[in-house]
Amino acid sequence: MGQDQHKIEWRGNVPVSTRFDDPFYSLDNGLAETEYVFLEGNDLPARFRDGFHVAELGFGTGLNFLATLAAFRAANVSGRLRFTSFEAYPMSVADLAEALSPFTSLPTDVLLDTDAETIPETLIGTDFDLTIVPGDAFGSLLAWDGQADAWFLDGFAPARNPEMWTPDLMAEVARHTSPGGTFATYTAVGDVRRALSAAGFEVSRVPGYGRKRHMTRGRLA
Ligand SMILES: C[S@@+](CC[C@H](N)C(=O)[O-])C[C@H]1O[C@@H](n2cnc3c(N)ncnc32)[C@H](O)[C@@H]1O
Repeated sequence: MGQDQHKIEWRGNVPVSTRFDDPFYSLDNGLAETEYVFLEGNDLPARFRDGFHVAELGFGTGLNFLATLAAFRAANVSGRLRFTSFEAYPMSVADLAEALSPFTSLPTDVLLDTDAETIPETLIGTDFDLTIVPGDAFGSLLAWDGQADAWFLDGFAPARNPEMWTPDLMAEVARHTSPGGTFATYTAVGDVRRALSAAGFEVSRVPGYGRKRHMTRGRLA
């Protein structure tokens, strides 16, 4: 991946981006937030099947990927999980190891068993195919020929990271969603909801995780 490694500060074990001045996930319980927002928000694990394809905006620490792989394994689905994540500013593996150290229930070894400085762009496991697409998400998505069954929209907060929430990017997300496919995100900002709706999703605002009052989920109409 190379370019522009992500500079971070720590609040306990939670990494905080100095570039975006925002934590990578909830300071309270990142794993529970991921399970609630991104898995339940996309009706997972119930929809898992062989070849189910999750796509994500923002790989970050890989917490969402690992939580998804753990849920896929626990659901006893035979076959493979496909997971594609778009990431412009990869974290070092050393920082990933620090961030993931509290999550002892997750299969962190699949990411951390490497001598590389950052996670390779393609990682093939016994039951998963992980692809991390480097560079700005919008440019990458324009060129991507994949289709996701479920999207995790996980840029930093829209006010701090607006390029991860533009109407043009949300339209690309919809264009790369399988018929009946879904998205979930922790934010309920009106502009983001309207952009997803204009892109073709049926959008619902639902209760959020922890102190967040609302989050957003949707299905391709
Ligand atoms: C909230 S963090 C994602 C957390 C992550 N899903 C996890 O499980 O740890 C947001 C991520 O979006 C990435 N990002 C920000 N702007 C981007 C852009 N324009 N294109 C691609 N990735 C971007 C950041 O580098 C960061 O890793």
